[in-house]
Amino acid sequence: MRKIKLFIASSLDGYIARQSGEVDWLFTDQDYGYTEFFDQVDTVIMGNKTYQQLLSFGEYPYQGKQAFVFSKTAQNIIDNNVKFVSSDWKSLINTLRQSSGRDIWLVGGAQTIHYFLINGFIDELILSIHPIILGNGIPLIVNDLNLETALQLKDVKTYESGLLQVFYDLKLPLAKT
Ligand SMILES: NC(=O)c1ccc[n+]([C@@H]2O[C@H](COP(=O)([O-])OP(=O)(O)OC[C@H]3O[C@@H](n4cnc5c(N)ncnc54)[C@H](OP(=O)(O)O)[C@@H]3O)[C@@H](O)[C@H]2O)c1
Repeated sequence: MRKIKLFIASSLDGYIARQSGEVDWLFTDQDYGYTEFFDQVDTVIMGNKTYQQLLSFGEYPYQGKQAFVFSKTAQNIIDNNVKFVSSDWKSLINTLRQSSGRDIWLVGGAQTIHYFLINGFIDELILSIHPIILGNGIPLIVNDLNLETALQLKDVKTYESGLLQVFYDLKLPLAKT
């Protein structure tokens, strides 16, 4: 079965963006394993806020990958880059997982990650922890007592820049084991 992998960057205090949505603090001095990861996936899934932000940065970056944007509001919109999905998210995810292909990248953001976590849909987390405390922002994991999930560490990479990359397998939520 194809894996769903959350490859994402956070601050040390667990934020994926400033409260304004800005990600100006992300390191861009080197690749940090992105190209290798990108080659392993052929499908990307993201929330509409993340997609709209990507478009604001300029050229759409995931050309050549099958792409789905979760949105309740963007119904019947035709878009050259992505397919908007407004309902039946679970059946889409299950169909994708069972079809043949490379792995699936869950890009983010927080609201979409929450949906995947609560439904046990994330197989692996690759987290690039940046050496910065933002103090406030959009959290990687939104507060939800039902989200308690055990992780198994698979690998750790450290970079001279201070970035720490941790690779985890996700186990089932404790409540379900
Ligand atoms: N640090 C990183 O590596 C990284 C990676 C990705 C994203 N980000 C950041 O994440 C931020 C966006 O995160 P976010 O949490 O605000 O938004 P998001 O998850 O990207 O998108 C949220 C939108 O997607 C739809 N959606 C997704 N899941 C939903 C659910 N369970 N229920 C209802 N609607 C759902 C809705 O679209 P509609 O409103 O259209 O219905 C919702 O408004 C951005 O600032 C981005 O920079 C950071």
